[in-house]
Order: sequence, then structure tokens, then C-alpha cells
Amino acid sequence: MNTLSSKFFKRGADFLGCDLPFLCGGMTWVSDPKLVAAVSNAGGFAALACGNAPVAVIEQQIADTRDLTAKPFAVNLITLSPLFKEQLAAVCRAGVSHIVLAGGLPRPDAIATAKASGAKVICFAAADSIAKMMIKNGADALIIEGMEAGGHIGVTTTAILIQEILFQYADRLPVFIAGGIATGKLSAHLFMMGAAGIQFGTLFAMSAESCAHPALKKAYADAASRDAVATPILDNRFAVPSVRALKNKGLDEFTRLQLDLIPKLDDGTLTKVEAAHRLENFWMGALRRAVLDGDTDRGSLMAGQSVGLIPASLPCADILSRLASDTEAEFVRIKSLLSA
Ligand SMILES: Cc1cc2nc3c(=O)[nH]c(=O)nc-3n(C[C@H](O)[C@H](O)[C@H](O)COP(=O)(O)O)c2cc1C
Repeated sequence: MNTLSSKFFKRGADFLGCDLPFLCGGMTWVSDPKLVAAVSNAGGFAALACGNAPVAVIEQQIADTRDLTAKPFAVNLITLSPLFKEQLAAVCRAGVSHIVLAGGLPRPDAIATAKASGAKVICFAAADSIAKMMIKNGADALIIEGMEAGGHIGVTTTAILIQEILFQYADRLPVFIAGGIATGKLSAHLFMMGAAGIQFGTLFAMSAESCAHPALKKAYADAASRDAVATPILDNRFAVPSVRALKNKGLDEFTRLQLDLIPKLDDGTLTKVEAAHRLENFWMGALRRAVLDGDTDRGSLMAGQSVGLIPASLPCADILSRLASDTEAEFVRIKSLLSA
């Protein structure tokens, strides 16, 4: 279709192998075969989340996704997972078209292994120095994710990353933008700034096809943007990022867990690595309780600040067609403003 959007969509759509370069980011426990297939079948692009899943589960999930869609999709791997090496080998064996390396800095050999499988490799860049390193190490595309995002976050906002990374590298490789985005109207402006595509998390976690428990979807629907807060990290020795989630008792428990761990680090009964594992395991377990069991009190209600912009749960096809039409409407508005 010859729309104003199609000019801006082409680069990202060609790279991803889809019609609409709107991505559903990998979300541990949430991005399962049903959600990934629903997004991909409706013209968007989605990533299957691996988290700490054993290899056999990942292989089954890739097979299940392929049963539900013939369209391309990505697999999202957390490089900090203790199972990362085996997971990466399994994903390479499965021959998926796109691999997203998230959570920490992927080593050059991990990028090389992923590329050698024939996959396009997408890496996160949370700073200019990281973007340079990822490009040097062979990343085919970057995602910049501002700290407005849900889940594990960096310290820099989307607006800063746009100026620091998108403006510098968009001519060299596709750059996708995430973090606090929920509308086609903003998407249009991000495409005009050079984005190859836009990644959403919370918007799709709330979708009709998402496996998130109805109680979690209700908590999302009731939340304002300011309810999605970043956890404070109480001690610099905790080598873990903050997490953005809706305020609840679970968030308070995370703070208390840190207070419990500090004296153990002081007296040497716990190493920094063990402390980081304790904190990470807390999130993995708490996220599972929220997503699968609907424990909105003590589970981790990971959500971006975008949560306040999403009033209701819609089918993925409706979300994507609304994003596409609102993006186009904004291009049309801008064009008429410029020619007035
Ligand atoms: C519940 C939840 C779980 C997430 N898990 C992951 C993950 O496993 N890997 C990852 O790269 N990003 C993860 N994210 C981040 C999303 O993929 C996406 O980049 C982010 O949510 C974008 O911000 P938004 O929610 O404001 O749209 C998660 C986000 C949420 C809300």
C-alpha cells in the first residue's frame, strides 16, 4: 500500500520480514508462542522470551510458535542467564531468523555464534559506548530502550538515547526504539527521527492474547503512569539493574531483601555474584507469580510508564491496526502543516 507510512516502515519491515515494524519485545513468562504468533500473524513482529527456561522448553516453544505462524519471529535471550550458552546453542540449532541478545553486554563470541547460525542479531545499547561496541562486534541492529520501559531498565531516558544513539547510528544500521511508547502518534515522530521500528512491551502484555493473568491485566488497566516505579538499588555492590514495576508489597519485599543482604556482603558470608543471583531469582519468581498466578500483592507487576496510556485489553490485530492508522494520520497531519 502506498501510504506516507510505507516510506518510513520499509527499512524496519525489510529487516524484520514483516509488514509493520512494530515489535512486541521479549517478555519473560509473557511472550509465549500464542502471543508471538498473534503479533506476527497480524503483520507485526515479536520475540519469544527465554528468561531462565531450560533448553527443552525453548525448543518446544520455538516448535509451537512455528505451528501457529509461518511468519518470522525473534528469540530473546538473557545473556546473564546461567543457561545462556546452552540456550544460545539450541536457538542456533533451531535456525530462527532473528536473535535478540538482552540483559548485560553480549560477548563478541556470543554475537559471532548467533550470526554464524544465519540469524540477524539485535543488541540493546544503553549508551553511546555500548552502541559502538555492539556495532564493532557485529550487531545487525540495535534496540535503544529508555528507562521508562517495563522490566529491567537502564538509567537513561528514551529522549536522551534518541539524541545520543539514534541520531548518530541510524544511517549505519536499523535502530529500534523502546520504553514508554504506546501510541501511533509518537511512533510517527520516532520514524521521522530515523527509527527503523518501535518496540512495545506493556501494550502487548495487556493484549487479549497475552497469557498474563486477568488480575495482572486489571492492575495494568487501573494503573497510572506514575504507578510504574523504578526499584531503588540500595548498595553499589549489587551488580543488578533497577526494575520498573507497579508499586505493591512485592516491591517493598525487594527493598527488604537488599537490606538483609547488605550485612552479609559486609561480613563476607555472601559474594557479590551470589547477592546478584539472589536478587535476580527474586524477580524471576515474583514475575512468574504475577503473570501466571495473578498474585498482584507480592508478585512483580513489571510495567513501563506506558501503562497509564493503555486503558483496555485489545486483540493484537486491533492494537497493530490502530498503531498503523494513528501513525499514518500523524504523517498526514504533519504533511498538511508543512504545506499550509
Ligand atoms: C513483564 C515484562 C517482562 C519483560 N521481560 C523482558 C525480557 O525477558 N527480555 C527483554 O529483553 N526485555 C524484557 N522486557 C522489556 C520489554 O521487552 C520492552 O522492551 C519494554 O517493556 C518496553 O517498554 P514499555 O513496556 O513501556 O513498552 C519486559 C517487560 C515487561 C513489561
